Amino acid sequence: MKGILLAGGSGTRLHPMTLAASKQLLPVYDKPMVYYPASTLMLAGIRDIMVISTPADLPQFRRLLRDGAHLGLRIAYAEQPTPDGIAQAFLIARDWIGGSPCALALGDNLIHADHLSVSLRAAAARPEGATVFAYQVRDPERYGVVSFDEAGRAVEIVEKPAAPLSNWAVTGLYFYDHHVVDIASSIKPSARGELEITDLNRVYLESNRLHVERLSRGCAWLDAGTPDSLLQAATFVQTIQSRTGMLVGCPEEVAFRMKYIDADALRDQARHLGKTDLGRALLELAEGEHE
Ligand code: TTP
Repeated sequence: MKGILLAGGSGTRLHPMTLAASKQLLPVYDKPMVYYPASTLMLAGIRDIMVISTPADLPQFRRLLRDGAHLGLRIAYAEQPTPDGIAQAFLIARDWIGGSPCALALGDNLIHADHLSVSLRAAAARPEGATVFAYQVRDPERYGVVSFDEAGRAVEIVEKPAAPLSNWAVTGLYFYDHHVVDIASSIKPSARGELEITDLNRVYLESNRLHVERLSRGCAWLDAGTPDSLLQAATFVQTIQSRTGMLVGCPEEVAFRMKYIDADALRDQARHLGKTDLGRALLELAEGEHE
């Protein structure tokens, strides 16, 4: 399976911070925001990743992530000239996807959960249909909202509803089978002029091919698209890391744990990070001081 890391958009809710910088390169505590969804894709076992961003910001992502070899990845890059919707990513990446199944992670989303890798790999291995993850939130009207029948089956999915039928928001992590490019080509722009990911998901739902996994209350899902949520995400990462000594959303660590790179390569990466706590933590990991 391939994976798209979508990191364009306009970031208007973070102005003026995003007037001259990409939202997804802003810091979330000790790492650039894009590291978190990149780690999520890697935990799903995905090693072929395409980063899509604006023409102005794409060179910065290249500087940061390069060709991905240092993480045991193959990273490709493509421009989204204007923010015409999340589902447009599949049209931009059409040739690169080349008939494979493909996942999509939004560049401003962070998921942290126990055994996440197990459910992500199960989603990636599902041969038919699509898998999305739903999470209970207090403000569902900001998101795509999915509602369920009494048997727990997803029955409806609506983008930013004024009167949500449930408080289950669809998170910014999606897994699709090899039909995704054809389906993305068939949907029409919404009233706000975007190719909506919710419309794509609705096609899968209406043909009974949408699996909705409900994330339990022990999971954390954060998007960092507003000043408050950006600060909350940073505080969350800082709290977990300083309390447990475990890293959150660190691609170098994931690469090592997934055996994409060996201890020598991890040590090299750690050295690039100099005397930072992050660099020290990665060195300790390479020396086998953590399980
Ligand atoms: P949003 O947060 O919905 O939009 P945005 O990032 O443009 O921000 P704002 O609402 O403050 O103007 O986008 C979710 C993610 O998807 C985010 O990481 C940006 C990305 N995105 C694109 O890359 N291209 C797009 O066309 C859209 C709509 C979003």
